[in-house]
Amino acid sequence: MIRAKAEVEALTPYVAPLEGRRPLLRLDFNESNVGPSPRVLEAIRSLPPEAYGAYPEYAGLCAAYAETVGVPERHVEAFNGVDAAIRAIFDAYGEKGGTFLTTAPTFGYYEPCAQQQGMVIDEVLYPEDLRFPLAAITRKLESRPRLLFVCNPNNPTGTLLEPSTIAALARSAPETLVVVDELYVAFTGRSVVPLALELSNVVALHSLSKAAGLAALRLGFAIGHPTIVERLRRVTGPYDINMFAVVAGKAALADPDHTRRYVAEVLAARDWTVGELRRLGVRCAGEGGNYLLVWPSGDCEAAARALRDQGILVRSMARKPVIDGSFRLTIGTLADMRRFMSAFSTIAPPHSRSAR
Ligand SMILES: Cc1ncc(COP(=O)(O)O)c(C=O)c1O
Repeated sequence: MIRAKAEVEALTPYVAPLEGRRPLLRLDFNESNVGPSPRVLEAIRSLPPEAYGAYPEYAGLCAAYAETVGVPERHVEAFNGVDAAIRAIFDAYGEKGGTFLTTAPTFGYYEPCAQQQGMVIDEVLYPEDLRFPLAAITRKLESRPRLLFVCNPNNPTGTLLEPSTIAALARSAPETLVVVDELYVAFTGRSVVPLALELSNVVALHSLSKAAGLAALRLGFAIGHPTIVERLRRVTGPYDINMFAVVAGKAALADPDHTRRYVAEVLAARDWTVGELRRLGVRCAGEGGNYLLVWPSGDCEAAARALRDQGILVRSMARKPVIDGSFRLTIGTLADMRRFMSAFSTIAPPHSRSAR
């Protein structure tokens, strides 16, 4: 057998359960259960046959996203989902032996990308109260890591950092590329982008997977200094984004009200869910994003299984540092959350543990 390179042979891949989820109430991967704007479906249905046979054309896509975030087009590049942008960042900037600094627990795809590059991984644990470990990260930046990833809000803890704090971190470390994964920015409204544009070591990541309801089509964006954006383009294939994603992305961006309405509905449903969990005395956490961490009274894997038996998926956080014992709950519409609460209350009778 031909061995892959040593880093790949030693790799623990990022595995997500992907099959058989669609008939169930999906509250496990922070997707939209509502789907995209009807304009997306119309745009895809009206494609002529030649659109299928020709390589995709990209004109207008980055310009549309640049207009959405209010920056010049040269600051924006599109990717086959933010996963592909993350991959490009490691391909372009992840040197063997260089340090990859981040927090833990965080989004699971960063670590295998760093491992593939043979990077030294330095993860700072969130404290028990799940606040961002700012002092520790500030200290570690003094030794000039190659890359710092800040997931803001952090998935899965929901920890939210002020964009000005991130910009200050980046200014203190001009030799570190600071990547700000803002996948849930539609739900927080807080982005480092206006501040990051003047900095040559910051890049932000946005996606149409979640609030815009396009997870299946895979479309994400990197927004940052034109030099960084150009280096990421260098390591990306010429046709990595397929034509459906381009057409859907433009149609979704032309209907921002669809996303706005969905975000407003999710935020109201989040408040309602937090209130209900507190009433039951159940600990929950999460200040940003369309998700919460929930600590059921018993074993979190048993709770996830019991919910699945009632047709509801949540993501167990068993064995994750700091948040072991919890599950991540995606916030959907109020109807989704009412269904969740009625199932959850049958498996989690009220108990005395204090909510926070
Ligand atoms: C924090 C974070 N970053 C990146 C991604 C990947 O996003 P995309 O669907 O655009 O590849 C996810 C998906 O769940 C995420 O939660």
